[in-house]
Amino acid sequence: MARVIAVANQKGGVGKTTTCVNLAASLAATRRRVLVIDLDPQGNATMGSGVDKYEVEHTAYDLLVDEVPAEQVIIKDTNGKYDLISANGDVTAAEIKLMEFFARELRLRNALEPIKDQYDFIFIDCPPALNMLTVNAMGAADSVLVPMQCEYYALEGLTALIDTISKLAAVVNPDLGIEGILRTMYDPRNRLANDVSDQLKQHFGDKVYRTVIPRNVRLAEAPSFGSPAIYYDKSSAGAKAYLALAGEMLRRAERSEPETEQA
Ligand SMILES: Nc1ncnc2c1ncn2[C@@H]1O[C@H](COP(=O)(O)OP(=O)(O)OP(=O)(O)O)[C@@H](O)[C@H]1O
Ligand SMILES: [Mg+2]
Repeated sequence: MARVIAVANQKGGVGKTTTCVNLAASLAATRRRVLVIDLDPQGNATMGSGVDKYEVEHTAYDLLVDEVPAEQVIIKDTNGKYDLISANGDVTAAEIKLMEFFARELRLRNALEPIKDQYDFIFIDCPPALNMLTVNAMGAADSVLVPMQCEYYALEGLTALIDTISKLAAVVNPDLGIEGILRTMYDPRNRLANDVSDQLKQHFGDKVYRTVIPRNVRLAEAPSFGSPAIYYDKSSAGAKAYLALAGEMLRRAERSEPETEQA
């Protein structure tokens, strides 16, 4: 059964999409079966996976609003060697249409139920807002992965996000937890970044990934080639960092699994 992870932060431009695409590709490269769901009308994860958002037959809109089965909406084997549910401007309308439905927070969860056992990981790329799309992502997820830049106001934003996660957990998804907090675009020479990083570790302890994602131009260039960084420049610091993050996630998952009984 897939572990469903919403990649969310209401702040824009913190590296949500970059994390989704590159972490998914890194896990797929270790032979995990991975699905990425683009839930952002900007369609950046779609384009970054080498899929033209203007040419797609189905998007997350069809899944959320028209109840087209996930099987039909999934685009198989993108440039990142993972499957994709795409997004484009149509998904903006889904955000509004969702309001009309009963149990609207759980539309995505219900839509994914039939295909969950076909994957090891499902990543949901959220828009930079705490709107009904993000709520649906959190309704469907086991946990939330929070990418953040170590800047002055970052901790304030994080507190607001965690507050939302716990409120949502209470109402729609009692099992929702924090998967981890990821420091992105990190510059170790920046003193403020180091200070914020220390505070993060104090507040959130083990939830902060040991792996940090450095600022790396290859990560910013790769989407224009419709490719995750490991297939654009696998020796780049950015590609290596996301491979390391995938390794850290897998090790964490192994540790938290219950011990199997010895025969
Ligand atoms: N580690 C990095 N090094 C250099 N550039 C990066 C890095 N991570 C992301 N970027 C670039 O920063 C910009 C924002 O990143 P990204 O699109 O992943 O953020 P986002 O949180 O998904 O944004 P939005 O909130 O708009 O969806 C992009 O141009 C991306 O290529
Ligand atoms: Mg994005």
